[in-house]
Amino acid sequence: SGVEQLGNMIAEAACVVPFTGAGISTECGIPDFRSPGGLWTRNRPIAFDEFVASADARAEAWRRRFAMEATFAAARPGRGHRALASLYKAGKTPAIITQNIDNLHQVSGFRADDVIELHGNTTYARCIGCGHAYDLLWVKQRFEEAGSAPDCTICDEPVKTATISFGQAMPEDAMRRATELAQHCDLFLAVGSSLVVWPAAGFPLMAKNCGAKLVIINNESTEQDDVADLVIRHDIGETLGPFVGN
Ligand code: OAD
Ligand code: ZN
Repeated sequence: SGVEQLGNMIAEAACVVPFTGAGISTECGIPDFRSPGGLWTRNRPIAFDEFVASADARAEAWRRRFAMEATFAAARPGRGHRALASLYKAGKTPAIITQNIDNLHQVSGFRADDVIELHGNTTYARCIGCGHAYDLLWVKQRFEEAGSAPDCTICDEPVKTATISFGQAMPEDAMRRATELAQHCDLFLAVGSSLVVWPAAGFPLMAKNCGAKLVIINNESTEQDDVADLVIRHDIGETLGPFVGN
């Protein structure tokens, strides 16, 4: 079966690099983006330049974030997160590359330094000017008092969740580290991503081109299935559950 083959490939590999998308967190109650019911089927994304240009867009972005508060607060790592954390604890996996912003890889046991967040993190906020970090609670209190999204107390630029929006520059250090991992691993596990958003979707192909084996675990087919060494088109929790250690 796919699970058995995956187990053999992990056993044979010295360095396994996971690359995750929103599909790994759906069993934790966090919706993905493009499945039925996904975030982008309900709301159009707010692009970075809109956020910068429009107070209404900023208010809408923060309203959406606060509407998700209970969902993020209640989410605990799922079987997929725990299985990948087991590979990390076993020394098979030096670090993880993720498109996710939910902080669940850190909660599952990865050191923050070893989670390479390509699209940032939604559990805190940053000024888009000077980069100063803010608690979400601070933003929420200001928002409720003033009825509008707060600006940075230091430089007066808008404060945004510490995520990467469409049209916003990718984080350089994360891109550099993800490139290095993709180029030097021997097994690359793409888990729960539709692989349609670039440049993130370039990493599985980069790993494959540099000689790694590529495994894709996803409910739906992806455009990279035909270059993968193994495709497991099945539920992530069920597929990775057997790899959860203690
Ligand atoms: P998508 O929503 O595009 O893809 C998630 C994939 O996971 C879908 O193909 C689902 O079929 C699959 N999936 C969901 N639950 C699953 C489960 N339990 N078992 C197996 N498969 C499951 O999410 P991403 O690929 O992460 O970026 O999206 C990439 C980027 O697009 C995000 O990081 C975000 C978004 O716009 C930005 O906003 C910049
Ligand atoms: Zn600032």
